[in-house]
Amino acid sequence: MIIAANLKTNLTRQETDKYLEDLEEYLNKTKSTQEVLVFPAMTSLNHHSGKVIVGVQNAYPTKNGAFTGEIGLDQLNEFGVKTILIGHSERRHVLGETQESLVNKFNFYKDLGFKIVYCVGEPLEKREAGKEAMMRYISTQYEGIDTTYENLIIAYEPVWAIGTGLTPTVEDIQTIHSDLKEKSLAPLLYGGSVKVSNAKEVLALENVDGILVGGAALNVKDFSDMVSFADDL
Ligand code: 13P
Repeated sequence: MIIAANLKTNLTRQETDKYLEDLEEYLNKTKSTQEVLVFPAMTSLNHHSGKVIVGVQNAYPTKNGAFTGEIGLDQLNEFGVKTILIGHSERRHVLGETQESLVNKFNFYKDLGFKIVYCVGEPLEKREAGKEAMMRYISTQYEGIDTTYENLIIAYEPVWAIGTGLTPTVEDIQTIHSDLKEKSLAPLLYGGSVKVSNAKEVLALENVDGILVGGAALNVKDFSDMVSFADDL
């Protein structure tokens, strides 16, 4: 399974180094067979060797150039980063990234062979509009995306479940994941208020190929426990 930590705007470089060191130690000790991804803050990027795949939370679709506040391929290459998160709800809804800009980013990093974790998910008003409207909305987030790309991982993260402690029921997750699997056979992660207390039941669901964890992943022990749940399945 794929167990991923999105550290968002948390942890300093020093704290991230320690986090990765502790995580590697855990994975080696337990001989975990899971694919473990960590997305640290930009300023915490560093060379990393080990079992954990370190990716970026964002990058601009460019090698370099005049894009104030962004980083591009040259900066990723410096640290050997080959994995990127695209379409996270905070980028879509807080930073205002459009589907068109996400498609450009997707294609740029796809052409370079990057592993892409592409996020989709509905805001609360779309969920409340009923299943059909909700699935129609999520479908728009697949527009322009090559769903057959070999290094694609999709993460379903309902916006209203992110950082709120709210989660869909396991039945809901299972139904939505089954529907989304019809759009793409890429591994499909669930994200949104996953924590130690619910990770086990989420991971056990059919069509859930892993989890993308935010807040609860900041504690390396908790994140490691979630990796161990996947090992136990
Ligand atoms: P939380 O786990 O904090 O709800 O965040 C989920 C998320 O956005 C992961 O990308």
